Amino acid sequence: MKRSNPKTFYIRTYGCQMNELDTEIMVGLLEKKGLVKTDDEKLADIIIFNTCSIRDLAERKVLGKLGQLGRIKKNRPIIGVTGCMAMAKKEALFKKLPHLDFVVGTNNITDLSDAIDQVIEKEQTVLRTDNKFEENLDYLVASRDDKVKASISIIRGCDKYCTYCVVPYTRGREVSRPLENIVQEVKMLADQGYKEVTLLGQNVNSYGKDFKDKQFLFHDLLYHLDAIEGIERIRFLTSHPIDITLDLMQAIRDLPSLCEFVHFPIQAGSSRVLKKMHRIYTKEAYFEKVHLLRQTVPNVALGTDIIVGFPTETEEEFCETLDVFKQLRYECAFLFAYSERKGTPSSRWKDDIPEEVKADRLHRLMDLHNQIVGEIMTDFIGNTVEVLVDAVNEKGQLKGRSRCWKKVVFDAPSDNPHQFIGTLQQVKVTGFNHQTLKGEVLARELVGC
Ligand code: 5AD
Ligand code: SF4
Repeated sequence: MKRSNPKTFYIRTYGCQMNELDTEIMVGLLEKKGLVKTDDEKLADIIIFNTCSIRDLAERKVLGKLGQLGRIKKNRPIIGVTGCMAMAKKEALFKKLPHLDFVVGTNNITDLSDAIDQVIEKEQTVLRTDNKFEENLDYLVASRDDKVKASISIIRGCDKYCTYCVVPYTRGREVSRPLENIVQEVKMLADQGYKEVTLLGQNVNSYGKDFKDKQFLFHDLLYHLDAIEGIERIRFLTSHPIDITLDLMQAIRDLPSLCEFVHFPIQAGSSRVLKKMHRIYTKEAYFEKVHLLRQTVPNVALGTDIIVGFPTETEEEFCETLDVFKQLRYECAFLFAYSERKGTPSSRWKDDIPEEVKADRLHRLMDLHNQIVGEIMTDFIGNTVEVLVDAVNEKGQLKGRSRCWKKVVFDAPSDNPHQFIGTLQQVKVTGFNHQTLKGEVLARELVGC
């Protein structure tokens, strides 16, 4: 029977970049087991949903999709849930979805292959959802589609416990990855021709704080990685403002490979709301840090995350968020309406902002964001940006990102645009379309390999 001899698998990923990376690791583990990845779920003998719990909508999407799969009766594939929903719902998922075969949490990726074997051999459901992450993951098996840019994990979990956030419960306490292990992976990626790495963690700036035997922090890691030959660009994601130090700002200023973009999520513009969110900084302290960063790295671009409609947020407090946005002029922003998450401290408070008020605040903030982005994009016209080419679009044009994370598209300097993938090009900006800059290559002698 098909079920007892799986050959192909399909993984669908929801949520953040850490989930995307976990999928790449799972793909690598399953390929090592001799299974073949397919992009068509109908052809798959194993279907995995690597899920997200950050907002209600993310969970509803997965449950809807999994419910549909339940209708497949004959020769049905093995079906599993991994990621944050596995941690948030655990065995309750089996009750909700009787056709589910396994649930493997964020801290048990190493057990994936074994879980599948058990489903086949013992014909029973498997649940693996440890609350603590053990540093036993084979990061080096990750199977990546992108051949220019790679994400790597440097710290897992989060100890910050913002009152609205489910992550500390779905990903557990912070565990930093050993330096040697990170350096080994980055060197391997450089040898494979990768030009850019993004260091991932729920809060990368906490890196090293859990090391008992040595004093080695995030900025120390950056100095080590910058020295690796072949990696042109290093990025990191995401940061908690409280842990953005002067040492880190100076590293961004001084290290050639470190890109001048900092995701600096404020979450709300009112100090009262920030306190209720347990963000452990005030609006004033946040502004001081941003000013220090802009003094230290004058050309830095800023990104943020903001939640509107947090319980008890007043119209005046929301206007403080608009005001912060106008003053700081973020280049990139992820904007969300508050979504109550079971088990978090804020779920004990009444979700008292009506959905239509949340939607209205979100639209007003998005409008402001679009207006500011338009102004920032206009200011780029006439400037030259360095672009790492990572793809060719359907029109044969080159695509990539600037150091400050702007999307850029431009005509290839010669035929065969694919030869330029993985090269750095100096591009003069001539215009823009929404959030993408358009330009032309300045230095035509900078040809690809
Ligand atoms: N509701 C809405 N947005 C949330 N985020 C985290 N938890 C919630 C929630 N309960 C947002 C935060 C965080 C981003 C990843 O998701 O802005 O930075
Ligand atoms: Fe969630 Fe706060 Fe941790 Fe970010 S810092 S993952 S918002 S608890």
